[in-house]
Amino acid sequence: MRVVFLAPSYPPEMIQYTRGLAELGHEVLGVGDTPPDALPELVKRCLSGYLAVPRLLDEDDVMQRVSTWLAGRTVDRVLSNWEPLVILAARLRARWGLPGMSVDTVMGFRDKQLMKERVAAAGLRVPRSRRVRSEAQIRAAAEEIGFPLILKPIAGAGSADTWRCRSQADLETAINATRHVQEASCEEYIEGEEFTFDCVSIDGRPVYENVAAYLPKPIEMRTIEWISPVIITVRDLEQPRLQPGIELGRNVLKALHMGDGFTHMEWFLTPKGEAIFGEIGCRPGGAHLVDQMNYTSDIDLFREWARVATERTFEAVTPRKYNVGIVFKRAQGQGRITRITGLGDWLRAAGPWAVEEKLLRPGTQRRNWKNTLLSDGHVVVRHPDWAEAHRLSFLAATGIRMYAE
Ligand SMILES: Nc1ncnc2c1ncn2[C@@H]1O[C@H](COP(=O)(O)OP(=O)(O)OP(=O)(O)O)[C@@H](O)[C@H]1O
Ligand SMILES: [Mg+2]
Repeated sequence: MRVVFLAPSYPPEMIQYTRGLAELGHEVLGVGDTPPDALPELVKRCLSGYLAVPRLLDEDDVMQRVSTWLAGRTVDRVLSNWEPLVILAARLRARWGLPGMSVDTVMGFRDKQLMKERVAAAGLRVPRSRRVRSEAQIRAAAEEIGFPLILKPIAGAGSADTWRCRSQADLETAINATRHVQEASCEEYIEGEEFTFDCVSIDGRPVYENVAAYLPKPIEMRTIEWISPVIITVRDLEQPRLQPGIELGRNVLKALHMGDGFTHMEWFLTPKGEAIFGEIGCRPGGAHLVDQMNYTSDIDLFREWARVATERTFEAVTPRKYNVGIVFKRAQGQGRITRITGLGDWLRAAGPWAVEEKLLRPGTQRRNWKNTLLSDGHVVVRHPDWAEAHRLSFLAATGIRMYAE
C-alpha cells in the first residue's frame, strides 16, 4: 500500500510507527516540518518520499501542498498517531475518498465536550460539564456545577492550562490564568484513582487492551515539581476492581464509532468502585506508554498498529507477563544536570527487572518538566508481581536523585 504518514519523526516515538509501516513492506510517504536533512537515519531508510512543510498545523496549507506534491499519485491510507494531526489526516482521507475515520468521528475524540456528550448519550457516566467561551459563561457553569471543579481547554493536551478549583478564589485565579484559552470545559471534579485504557482496535473492536495506573493522577504529576511521576501497566486485567473501567472503555469505543487503530482513554475509579470517563484520543498514549505495553508482553505494537491500520489484522500473541513501571525524574535546581545519586544502588536492587535507564547525563540541559512528562529522563522496571513492580518503581522515585545548577 501507499501510505501517507503525518509527522513521521516527531514526536520521537513516531519514528517507530514509521518503522512499523515500512517493515510491512508499505510505501511510506512522510509529511512533516522537520527539514529533510535533519530526519533521523532510520526514518530516511523507512520513507519512500518526504514532504517538508513550513507549518504542519496549518491544515489548509498542508492539504494543498500534499495534493500538489502527490501530483495525481493515488494513495491507499492517510494516517497519524499525533493528537494535533488526527483531524488533518481525516480531512485528507475525506478529500481523497479513502477508508478510515471521518472528520466528524475524529472530532468525537478531539473535542472534549463533544466526546463527553456522545459518551453520555450512550448511557455512560461522564463528569457533568459545560462548554465555556467567556468569563461570564465560566462563572455561570461554576454556579451550576459547584466546587470542586476542573477548568481545562476543549482541545487540551499534556494537562496544559488545566486548573482544579476548590473555591471561588481558585476560580478567579484560573480565570485570570486562562484568558488566552478560547474554549474551555468546566466540569465536575471526580475524586478517585486514575487509570488508562489503551486499545488497538479493528472496526472499534479491541484486538489489544491495556490498563495502566497513574501514580499520582496526571494533574498532580504536572503541577508538583518534586514528584517523580510513576505509571505502571497492570499485568492482571482480570481483577474485579478494573472491570468497570474496561467495560466502560469498550462501550466508549462503540459510542464514538471507533474505527481502526490506537486509542488512549483515561478514566477515574471512585472510592465506591464506580468507573467514570475522563477523556479519550484516537491515537496512542505518549511518554513511552507504548514501550511499556511492549515490555508488558514482549511484543512490538508499533508494527502491530501498522498492520491494523493498513491490512486490518493483528498478529501478535499478547500474554501479559509483567507489570511495567516507568519513573520520570526531575532534577533539583536549574540549568545543567550536575550529578545523579542512588542510581547504582537502585540498579543493584532491581537487578534483572530493570529494563531501561535513560536519565539525562551530567552536562545535559534540564528539560522543562512543565512541557514534557519526560522531564529529566526515566527508568523502566518490570516484574510479574504487582507489589514488587510497585516497590521497585517507588524505590526509583525516592532513591534516585538528580541535581542541576
Ligand atoms: N473532571 C475531572 N475530575 C478530576 N480530575 C480531572 C478532571 N478532568 C481532568 N482532570 C485531571 O486533569 C488531568 C488532565 O486533564 P485531561 O486529561 O482532560 O487533559 P489533557 O491535557 O488532555 O491531558 P494529557 O494530554 O496529559 O492526557 C487529568 O488526567 C486528571 O488528572
Ligand atoms: Mg489526559
